[in-house]
Amino acid sequence: MKKADEHTEAKKKEPEQKQEVVIHAKGIKKSFGKKKVLKNITFDLKKGENIVVLGKSGQGKSVTIQCVVGMLQPDGGELEVFGENITTMNDDELKQLRMKIGFLFQGGALYDSMTVRDNLEFPLTRVLKLKDQKEINKKVEGVLDAVGLLDAIDKMPSDLSGGMRKRVGLARTLIVNPEIMLYDEPTTGLDPITSREISELINRLQRKYEISSVIITHDMECARITADRILVMDDGEYIAEGSYKELEKSDNEMVRSFFNEPS
Ligand SMILES: Nc1ncnc2c1ncn2[C@@H]1O[C@H](COP(=O)(O)OP(=O)(O)OP(=O)(O)O)[C@@H](O)[C@H]1O
Ligand SMILES: [Mg+2]
Repeated sequence: MKKADEHTEAKKKEPEQKQEVVIHAKGIKKSFGKKKVLKNITFDLKKGENIVVLGKSGQGKSVTIQCVVGMLQPDGGELEVFGENITTMNDDELKQLRMKIGFLFQGGALYDSMTVRDNLEFPLTRVLKLKDQKEINKKVEGVLDAVGLLDAIDKMPSDLSGGMRKRVGLARTLIVNPEIMLYDEPTTGLDPITSREISELINRLQRKYEISSVIITHDMECARITADRILVMDDGEYIAEGSYKELEKSDNEMVRSFFNEPS
């Protein structure tokens, strides 16, 4: 692993060699009653890429990624994941697809009555239906090691700090080897130092497992650390796209405001 991983410097733009598209969204629309939330959402997520989505509260950022995992059905537009149209998938097909997508929910919770180990075993025994305890132990320990929490394996969630709980949540999502990760505000509620650790962890995991990610955040430091590309959402569509450095100097006042305000 490169030394730069350990630092907080912004990601440098790498030459675009990896062109495989894992999520293709074009003209996605979604309304709730008369309220048009998504009006025209268009983006491609390429393999191994981190996209950061910025936008004011209530813009439909969470709704967008809920559409990607088939929890919500768009009213119109194209939505393909791994090249397959997910809007026409049946429940079984969606279930198969979801095994390849990790979703770190906004405020994602652990099971409070279970130890860290049991929290992590849950997706293996319930989702993947694994039975071999040796294999289960290996996966649990491997993923905890990846998030730097191996020594917390027998702790209860209530004994962990907020940042540690986030990391266990992340480990629980990663344990089924997702190819895509959807992070809904992964650093909200954490102090700046812990937020930075989580952001750096997102980058390390991206490299280690070649994960493609959509990261929704209000935390500009998280955006700076993780983004290969940033999309800015306003009034149901993306109004700007570019690297952190490009958007920081945008002519659009609304876009620039994200970079000027303390988060
Ligand atoms: N299942 C639902 N049924 C009805 N309305 C919904 C549903 N999910 C979201 N909405 C509405 O869609 C709008 C966008 O919600 P969403 O949660 O995507 O916003 P957001 O951009 O993620 O905001 P935040 O930054 O606060 O998390 C809101 O007005 C919300 O009330
Ligand atoms: Mg949200």
